[in-house]
Amino acid sequence: MQNPQATSTPSDKITIALSKGRILKETLPLFAAAGIEPLEDIHTSRKLIFETTRSDVQFIVIRATDVPTYVEYGVADLGVAGKDVLMEHGAEEMYEVLDLQIARCRLMTARLKDAPEIAGRMKVATKFVRVAKQYFSEQGRQVDLIKLYGGMELAPIMKLADCIVDIVDTGNTLKANGLVVEEHIADISSRLVASRLALKLKDDRINPIIETLAAAVQSSAVRA
Ligand code: ATP
Ligand code: PRP
Repeated sequence: MQNPQATSTPSDKITIALSKGRILKETLPLFAAAGIEPLEDIHTSRKLIFETTRSDVQFIVIRATDVPTYVEYGVADLGVAGKDVLMEHGAEEMYEVLDLQIARCRLMTARLKDAPEIAGRMKVATKFVRVAKQYFSEQGRQVDLIKLYGGMELAPIMKLADCIVDIVDTGNTLKANGLVVEEHIADISSRLVASRLALKLKDDRINPIIETLAAAVQSSAVRA
C-alpha cells in the first residue's frame, strides 16, 4: 500500500492485534509469560477488544489477514501474524521485530503425483498471489495465477490449475488429495510486527514488551 495515512490509536493504551484461528492458542502463552493476559476467555467470547492484566495494554482479535492493515495504519501498535501473511501483504509502515517461532510450516509448490511436465504457461492456484508472482518472475517463469481463498489442493484435481502454492506442515492434506510437494518457497513462522509510528512515539513502552516476549520465546525454545 502507498503511504497509508497513519492515524493515532484511539486511546493511549498499547494495542496489540492478534490473529484469531490457528495462531492464537500458541500466541497467548507467550504474552502470558510476558505478564500480559486477557481478562476474559478470548476463545469463547464474541468480543473483539480485550482488556488485559496490564491496564495500559489491550488486545484486538481479528482475522490473520487483517493484522498487517491495523499495524500499518498505526491503529495497532504491535501485531502477530504468519510470515506468509506478511509476505503477501507487503510490509509498508511496519517492522518485523521478533520471530515468535510458533505455527512453523513451509510455503511450497505442489502438484498431482505423476502429473506430466507442463511445457507452456503453468496455471497456479493460490491465496498467495503476490508471493507466487514474485517467486515465478524471479525465475523468469511465466504463469497464470488463479486466486483462491482455501482448499487449494482441490484445484489440480479438478483441472482448474496445474499446480498450487500453499502452506505445508505435516503434508497430510497433500497426501490425502494425491499431491506431492515440489519447490520450497519459504520457511514460515509467526512474527511480531510493530508499527513505525508506535516505535517512534511509544518506544519506551513498546521496547520492554518486545524484550520480555523475546525472553519468553527463548525460554519456550529451551523447554522444547
Ligand atoms: P484467514 O482465516 O484470515 O483466511 P487463515 O485461514 O490462513 O487466515 P489460519 O488457518 O488460522 O488462518 O492460519 C494462520 C497462520 O498459521 C497462517 O498464516 C500460517 O502462518 C500458519 N499456518 C497455516 N496453516 C498451517 C498449518 N497447517 N500448520 C502450521 N501453521 C499453519
Ligand atoms: C492449511 C494449508 C493446507 C494445510 C497444510 O489449510 O492451506 O491445506 O493447512 O497442513 P498439513 O500439511 O499439516 O496437512 P487450513 O487447514 O488452514 O485450511 P484452508 O485450506 O482453508 O486454508
